[in-house]
Amino acid sequence: MMQEEYPPLRPPARLLLGPGPSMVAPRVYQALAQPIVGHLDPYFFEVAEEVRKLLGYVFSTNNAFNLAISGTGSSGMEAAVANFAEPGRKFAVLVNGFFCERITEMARRQGAEVVRLEKPWGEVFDEQEAREFIRREKPRVVAYVQAETSAGAFQPGKAICEAAHEVDAVVIADCVTSLGGMPVLVDETGIDIAYSCSQKGLSCPPGLAPVTVSPRALERLRTRPAPPHSWYLDLQLLDTYYSGRKYHHTASATMLYALREALVLIREEGIEKRWDRHRRNHQAFVAGIEAMGLRMHVAEGRRLWTLNTPRVPEGVDDAKVRKRLLEEDGIEIAGGFGPLAGKVFRIGLMGASSTPENVLLILEKLERALRAEGFRPTESGRSAAEQALGAAAR
Ligand SMILES: Cc1ncc(COP(=O)(O)O)c(C=O)c1O
Repeated sequence: MMQEEYPPLRPPARLLLGPGPSMVAPRVYQALAQPIVGHLDPYFFEVAEEVRKLLGYVFSTNNAFNLAISGTGSSGMEAAVANFAEPGRKFAVLVNGFFCERITEMARRQGAEVVRLEKPWGEVFDEQEAREFIRREKPRVVAYVQAETSAGAFQPGKAICEAAHEVDAVVIADCVTSLGGMPVLVDETGIDIAYSCSQKGLSCPPGLAPVTVSPRALERLRTRPAPPHSWYLDLQLLDTYYSGRKYHHTASATMLYALREALVLIREEGIEKRWDRHRRNHQAFVAGIEAMGLRMHVAEGRRLWTLNTPRVPEGVDDAKVRKRLLEEDGIEIAGGFGPLAGKVFRIGLMGASSTPENVLLILEKLERALRAEGFRPTESGRSAAEQALGAAAR
């Protein structure tokens, strides 16, 4: 029999400017190469305790319950839904994109009675309509997506949380695309359960879902009439593991090291400075996009700084543009899907990917790829972004 050959792994060098994963910092790669310890080793719990504190910092919360679930962002979503949805009880979702649809599906699978308020992808709910909906429905749980990656919009949450608390509901916020790149402000907003992922604003590989839970939400869990349907994602059981140091599952020390290092990098940079970096790079990118004669899908003031959704110009095939960027420049960006299929590009500037150099590079390469499809930009996007970056630095 012929011996099969397996050459050494040689992943292509990519610049990750899509909706995630983002670029991983060298120090995080070094953390990934450290020797593992067991999942009940005292050192494992030392690192878990550092992660708990650092998550409080990035989520801007004094909650004591902060941990990283073994699984991607969707495991954070499923944990939030499975622990708080109750069969036959009302679960409200504010729906303005794909990930709100996924929350809906998960809540239905838990047997909750899902009630929804809907908006087109890219729009956000104003305070009054959110309040009226919640006061009318009086649900047990309200869920919204703070940073909708399918559309590029940021949903403010203060009015949602206030109205929810008036009717004694707990609030779940999806912060998958905001954490580490935009102010998530869990306590100031009033969010009870926030979850995220490791691979976007935190610039780690995918694999962990940071979660924070408020004391009032923990009280809700303690008084649940029956345990949640999910055993693996039962937050109280996970707490007996991370705080009580009792075996629950074999969590990955490697991923915990990586997350710890990524969070320490954020601590060193300073979270406000990091938000500011994301805002400046996003604004320079938008200046470049608009100078070229393209339009942003989301209204100013509602846009994510982490994930930009410029509209695809009339007559341009977005798949061809993306293919050229990947094949010729090694740059990954994404397209729209659902109602935004073929209508927007999704260009991420998050975590280690959010740099002035990357803003200038993607504008230059995007312009070249658009020209190849027959689009004629009005002005140079790169020059406009350079000016914006220069003005921001003065
Ligand atoms: C807003 C939002 N929620 C949830 C998820 C699911 O995260 P994951 O793909 O890490 O499971 C994503 C992924 O992009 C997301 O953008």
